[in-house]
Amino acid sequence: MSSSPIIPEYLMCAPDFYEVSYIINPWMRPDQWAQEKDVWLAKAKQQWGALKDTIESLGWRVRLIPPADGLPDMVFSANHAFVLGKTALIARFATKERAGETPLAAQWFADNGFRVEHPTAVFEGGGDALYDNALDLIFMGHGFRSQLAAAAELQALFNKTVVPLQLVDDRFYHLDTCFCPLLNGYAMATPLAFTAEGLATLRQHYGDKLLLVDDQAAVHFACNAVVHGQNIVMPTITDGLRQNLTSLGFTLHELPLDSYLMAGGASRCLTLKLTD
Ligand code: ARG
Repeated sequence: MSSSPIIPEYLMCAPDFYEVSYIINPWMRPDQWAQEKDVWLAKAKQQWGALKDTIESLGWRVRLIPPADGLPDMVFSANHAFVLGKTALIARFATKERAGETPLAAQWFADNGFRVEHPTAVFEGGGDALYDNALDLIFMGHGFRSQLAAAAELQALFNKTVVPLQLVDDRFYHLDTCFCPLLNGYAMATPLAFTAEGLATLRQHYGDKLLLVDDQAAVHFACNAVVHGQNIVMPTITDGLRQNLTSLGFTLHELPLDSYLMAGGASRCLTLKLTD
């Protein structure tokens, strides 16, 4: 396998104000966080730093959006926008808890030379819209956060075919928690998260190269991976999936990310790819 010649760039947001203080998905445990706030925050800073270091050690670039007090989930930059080319479709969040991130993201993208657009429908950015370069398709999850109506807006703005996928298990409320395109026509998917029709759609596009993630790896957020070339930066997974991916030629970089799993996020949620 050869990796793509383009140096990928990722947007990240430091966890200075990160905490688990409300519940907007079933993973969120404010009670557990509150018991040992300082310990968890220190851990979150260390784990975020290790993720950033890993990305940079692969020769990839990290850009930073400043964090904001009172917006603890802003650290999950995947949700700030969906980016393709130099156009950013900024998030319109489903929950009031995250709505304050929208103007900050819009400002950052405007300041950094992107064309900034806003959707009319609820749309949670790269958390729900994943572009597969090889297929030249955008897959879009809907059902818990993004609304199906956002698919037509994505299609019109980026002039790409958008494949909507309904999400049916609230633990996998964003598409990036249960689906991940990989190199060479492969993709990972968590069957639990989709309807039979949705899984059939994925099969149609990936055939035998659709790797079904077992339940145990799925709840470790195996699909929430940062992928470039054959490299996969992901939370710690299971032996079976590790063997499977390694035997297919992928290079895994597994990181402990439990302080973020407690908010329903992992490596991919903490990054937003700015390059195609
Ligand atoms: N607590 C955040 C939320 O519920 C986690 C976001 C995770 N991000 C993602 N791209 N899946 O919105």
